[in-house]
Amino acid sequence: MNDWFEERRQAVEKELATLAIPGQPARLYDPIRYTLVLGGKRIRPVLTLLGCELYGIPYAKAMPQALAIEIFHNFTLVHDDVMDSADVRRGMSTVHKKWDPHVALLSGDAMLIIACQQLFRAGNEHLQPISSIFMQTALGVCEGQQLDMDFAVGEDVSLTDYLDMIRLKTAVLLSGAMQIGAVIGGAGSGQLEAIRSFTENMGIAFQVRDDYLDAFGNADFGKHIGGDIREGKRTWLTVKALEMADQHTKERLAAAYANADLNLRVQQVLEMYNALDIRTLAEEAVNGYSAKAVHVLETMDGDQKVKTWLRELVDFLMGRTV
Ligand code: IPE
Ligand code: IPE
Ligand code: MG
Ligand code: MG
Ligand code: MG
Repeated sequence: MNDWFEERRQAVEKELATLAIPGQPARLYDPIRYTLVLGGKRIRPVLTLLGCELYGIPYAKAMPQALAIEIFHNFTLVHDDVMDSADVRRGMSTVHKKWDPHVALLSGDAMLIIACQQLFRAGNEHLQPISSIFMQTALGVCEGQQLDMDFAVGEDVSLTDYLDMIRLKTAVLLSGAMQIGAVIGGAGSGQLEAIRSFTENMGIAFQVRDDYLDAFGNADFGKHIGGDIREGKRTWLTVKALEMADQHTKERLAAAYANADLNLRVQQVLEMYNALDIRTLAEEAVNGYSAKAVHVLETMDGDQKVKTWLRELVDFLMGRTV
């Protein structure tokens, strides 16, 4: 990524590395340290910083809230990996595998609390609005995660239902991240609404790209490729394939998904995706939502340089492989 991103990412990294996290009990706090320094792209905290800078305020002012967002995000990942039975994240063992699921539950809870501690390091005038955005965001993520699990076992899921689920589980956090920064930068409600629209479109593109990489990515992705198919998760690819397929193909896809041999399951599902050219359709969907985000961005006010950076961020996320 570009210099401006690298500078902000490193500033976040430095703050995360120096967070005062207690030593004992080790099985509570070690997994937190392990998770927070394992890397990750740091997209969300950088969005918080840019939200602030968009209105001419230096990013340092929003740093505690940027940390809050990144710690919250990492908490959702620790719990998500339990829910998705995922073994690998960022190329490393997930917390519930390295320790155990009980450790993942409680360390995750503690991360949520540490996130709140950082969030509340704000001036009095900002505490109410940023808390309100944060709580609404966090509940949205829970709703999205529950729908994600419901969809994995449910019968029919329309593309509209699916898009609303990923808006909740993924896009609202990108949105909350940037809105909180913008509040600290002095944004008004009209500006927050534009940010919501920009980030939600970007977030939907981001999650469709994540679904795509889960099936077609390489080792850089840092997660077990084919993990969604192995777990029987509904993704944009599955929902789109089912929407397009004739009755016979639908039955074959359902049979492939039900295959108890997981390697064969992945192979067969990928074959069906290829036959339906789902790969191209997913790329088009990512481009389409990214274009919507850029369109909203063009109508937004704020610092021109920061808007250029946000545009570069959308382009980076569209083509990401990590
Ligand atoms: C992973 O988010 C969870 C999704 C919403 C797809 P990221 O891809 O931002 O994960 P890290 O933080 O960079 O590892
Ligand atoms: C991400 O969904 C949503 C949250 C973590 C809240 P995924 O389950 O697709 O994320 P990854 O692929 O595990 O990162
Ligand atoms: Mg997951
Ligand atoms: Mg999940
Ligand atoms: Mg995923």
